[in-house]
Amino acid sequence: METRPFGKTGEFFPILSFGGQRIVDEHHCTEEEAIEIVNTAIDRGIRYFDTAWAYSKGQAEARLGKVVKERRSEMWIATKTVHTTRDGARRQLEESLTRLQTDHVDEWRLHNVYSYGRLDAFTGRGGALEAAVQARDEGLVRHISISCHTDPQILIEALDRFPFDSTLIATSALDHFILSFVEEFVPVANAHGVATIGMKVMGLGSLTHEPERALRYALGLPLSTVIVGMETMAQLEQNLAVAESFTPLSDEERLGFFREIMPLVRPDKMPWKAADWENPTEWVPRNRGR
Ligand SMILES: NC(=O)c1ccc[n+]([C@@H]2O[C@H](COP(=O)([O-])OP(=O)(O)OC[C@H]3O[C@@H](n4cnc5c(N)ncnc54)[C@H](OP(=O)(O)O)[C@@H]3O)[C@@H](O)[C@H]2O)c1
Repeated sequence: METRPFGKTGEFFPILSFGGQRIVDEHHCTEEEAIEIVNTAIDRGIRYFDTAWAYSKGQAEARLGKVVKERRSEMWIATKTVHTTRDGARRQLEESLTRLQTDHVDEWRLHNVYSYGRLDAFTGRGGALEAAVQARDEGLVRHISISCHTDPQILIEALDRFPFDSTLIATSALDHFILSFVEEFVPVANAHGVATIGMKVMGLGSLTHEPERALRYALGLPLSTVIVGMETMAQLEQNLAVAESFTPLSDEERLGFFREIMPLVRPDKMPWKAADWENPTEWVPRNRGR
């Protein structure tokens, strides 16, 4: 598989990486299947594994941890905190390390920074960013990261406030049409040497009728790597096959794909870009900018 540099870290990762949210009962994935899927991903060359404290009340981290325990040196582990305060985030980090059965994570992310208010809470006095810096000083965390689905300008502001090592951003073909991280943010990140990880590749389900084109589109973007949430061995095999023989969409293929998926560019089909995650009836840019 093609590999790419991961920001300024000196690491190179294969273009396809593993989204670890769905290897849980909630997504009809048993523990045995989860362990087999993750082991197969490593055997086939995947190195980057994303998870979070918040996923399925800890089950996602705990399942990944069963493989981490055996194969830590082969895996890059990124996990996240949803808690915006220093003390709350620290408690979550300690729980994450226990569940993941490791003494450090390679990346720790401020999770889902969907608004300027949430960015203020994370980065302000007594915020989770202070816990991240302290944990890095203590060797519990190697790199500090931030994730956002909603508005690329929030991440541009975040980079003005702190030299994050990496960013996890929504980059599906649907995201091309509204508040595009690829257009607005990736050039800024690349200029700063900040690694970029693409997510929402399958449009959180909206593009799963076209998994091959959805993945080829995302792999063709100027990103460091791309995570796809995979909950079955068949999905892993299919996505590996696309990534291992990756060729970017031609201009004609890309434009044809855009034309077909344009009717899906609606708040209910891409709720992460909607103003209200719980009740996605409007687009985000109500209070854009400050
Ligand atoms: N804010 C954040 O930081 C944040 C938020 C959410 C997720 N994440 C991370 O991002 C990862 C990816 O999640 P996402 O939200 O970006 O979703 P996504 O990758 O766009 O969609 C994942 C879903 O696509 C389907 N899929 C994957 N490969 C497929 C294939 N080859 N054929 C058909 N369907 C396929 C599966 O769904 P079905 O089998 O159910 O159809 C899978 O659960 C997560 O695992 C997590 O690690 C981060």
